[in-house]
Amino acid sequence: MEYQTLANGYKIPVLGYGTLYIKDSDGRIDTLVYEAIKRGYRHIDTAEGYENETEVGIGINNAIKDGIVKREDLFITTKLSCHHYNDYDKTIKYFNESLKRLNLDYVDLYLIHWPNVLPKNKWKKNNAEIWKAMEKIKNDGLARSLGVSNFMPHHLDELFKTAKIKPVVNQLEVSPQWQNKEAIKYSLENNITVIAWAPLMHTGGGDNKVLIDIAKKYSKTPAQICLRWSLQKGYIPIAKTSTPERMSENLDVFNFTINDEDITILDTLQSHPSSYMVADTVYMRLHLFESINNKEEDINVNYKLFDKLAIVSYKRISDNTSGWYLLNFIPLMKKIINSENKYEYYYLLSFLPFIKKRIKSPVHEKLYLFNYFPFMDIKHKKKLIKKINLLPEINE
Ligand SMILES: NC(=O)c1ccc[n+]([C@@H]2O[C@H](COP(=O)([O-])OP(=O)(O)OC[C@H]3O[C@@H](n4cnc5c(N)ncnc54)[C@H](OP(=O)(O)O)[C@@H]3O)[C@@H](O)[C@H]2O)c1
Repeated sequence: MEYQTLANGYKIPVLGYGTLYIKDSDGRIDTLVYEAIKRGYRHIDTAEGYENETEVGIGINNAIKDGIVKREDLFITTKLSCHHYNDYDKTIKYFNESLKRLNLDYVDLYLIHWPNVLPKNKWKKNNAEIWKAMEKIKNDGLARSLGVSNFMPHHLDELFKTAKIKPVVNQLEVSPQWQNKEAIKYSLENNITVIAWAPLMHTGGGDNKVLIDIAKKYSKTPAQICLRWSLQKGYIPIAKTSTPERMSENLDVFNFTINDEDITILDTLQSHPSSYMVADTVYMRLHLFESINNKEEDINVNYKLFDKLAIVSYKRISDNTSGWYLLNFIPLMKKIINSENKYEYYYLLSFLPFIKKRIKSPVHEKLYLFNYFPFMDIKHKKKLIKKINLLPEINE
């Protein structure tokens, strides 16, 4: 395993094992984490929001107990969820609960999972307060490094105003298809290491012709090309797989180099006119729209993503933050009301399973559903994409 050094001097393995969406049906989570460590992973990524910290912790502790690895050889990340309202005390509470579930004495990296976007700029104060609690956690020796995730430049700028300890990591969605250039540039300029989530483009990349062709050339797989692309860019990819053979395949990326010409070709895979993302629920929705390109064969992939989104939405609406969550949609709906794209119907369809459940629910939940009606009034996608560029305004 190779390492990078974070701005605070701690070393981080340059390739990690992601644990989101590992479900019981994939095999026992603890067994998979154990297997990943056995096969050579030293960097494990989990989060409070993945609801698997207990099992991830069992896998880690079993690997330590069996002498496969020592705790100090592992780099463990977890994240403060944004599925609930966080303040100073709650941040300390939720961190302690994470640590307890993981059954560890400390984590190597603690992240704010998403900037806690609240209306009327309240997110600024809120992120500052959370960060203050995270600084205490670090000063108490319970997290070696602190970082953020899905922070755009304006979120970082705001945090810098009050942070005594600077974030050393920004975990961002990064792959050849989603290059997130502005956020990466700004992070690196501020000496913040970029960890790349969904480095395999959520799918493994096996459905992309350009990746397939380049992979053949190097006698590698599309997934390995994605990971190598990330590594050569200086990012730290964290790939998820529930397949033990693929764990090894994804680690086998240190024995070749993609030449400059092919890197340039991979760089053109960016399928979006703007990589500027707004890291809040609005972003999550539009990211899905942006990830759609107009090929029929991509429908299934995107439909899968929509389902994941529906789960996130469903979770959010069932807690007490749903009020401000709803507020996010009103300006968004105004902006996309004139768009035209048949794929948006699929998006709408993805909500049907829980529309049924929600129809008799409290007023705010009905309002939430009401927000989707404009999707039926669709003009064209190009307009939508243009409007996406206006998103930073919405966020403010
Ligand atoms: N900070 C954040 O907001 C955030 C958000 C999302 C994810 N993450 C982190 O990033 C990690 C990775 O992201 P992700 O899981 O969304 O997506 P990903 O790693 O880009 O893709 C995972 C998908 O690729 C498949 N795959 C893995 N290796 C493969 C191979 N060698 N060949 C073919 N297919 C392969 C997996 O299938 P199989 O499992 O069947 O092999 C799975 O369907 C997560 O697990 C999580 O830890 C962070």
